Amino acid sequence: MDKPLYHGGWDSRVTLDVATNWKLAVENYCESYHLPWVHPGLNSYSRLEDHYHIESRGNFSGQGTYVYRQLEGRDGERLPDFEALPEVWETGGEYIALYPNVLLGVQRDHAFAIVLDPVRHDRTREHVHIYYAAPDTDGALRQKNATRWKTVFTEDVFVVEGMQRGRAAPGFDGGRFSPAMDGPTHLFHDWVAGRIADLRALRDA
Ligand SMILES: [Fe+2]
Repeated sequence: MDKPLYHGGWDSRVTLDVATNWKLAVENYCESYHLPWVHPGLNSYSRLEDHYHIESRGNFSGQGTYVYRQLEGRDGERLPDFEALPEVWETGGEYIALYPNVLLGVQRDHAFAIVLDPVRHDRTREHVHIYYAAPDTDGALRQKNATRWKTVFTEDVFVVEGMQRGRAAPGFDGGRFSPAMDGPTHLFHDWVAGRIADLRALRDA
């Protein structure tokens, strides 16, 4: 059954201005092997080996985790869950890039969407919005949750900016995909390559 999502309000949104191409932000979102060294806090409970790939050719790709840890307040209070979730969502989380430019995250008690706004070939605005299962949620928990995600997304900034600089390096040879680790990223490249091929076919028709 469809259920509404409730935007958390002014404290549940953030915009990050990042010196990178929007496609590199998607790439970074598609894989989890940067977790141990880029997100030590997140990695302390959701490790690389707790993740699985999500792959839908032509549509979306990303990662799931088996060990999402729900936030708790001082007295054990929690954010309300979405209704009637299967058991797998008690500790599950899924993070997908919906092609071309929307990054989605969903857990038992909140979801977020990041819209990648491609300002220039080397500059992207990331608009982050967090949504809840109920219209009125605990303000302190909501802020704690927003701070947690802002920290994670900010940790990714130097990575995607470094990727942008790296792509322009004279020694960059196009890179390699790891069959074990880069399946979701490869699907995104496949999507981009397909769109470029479509445009070329139109141009040459
Ligand atoms: Fe990251």
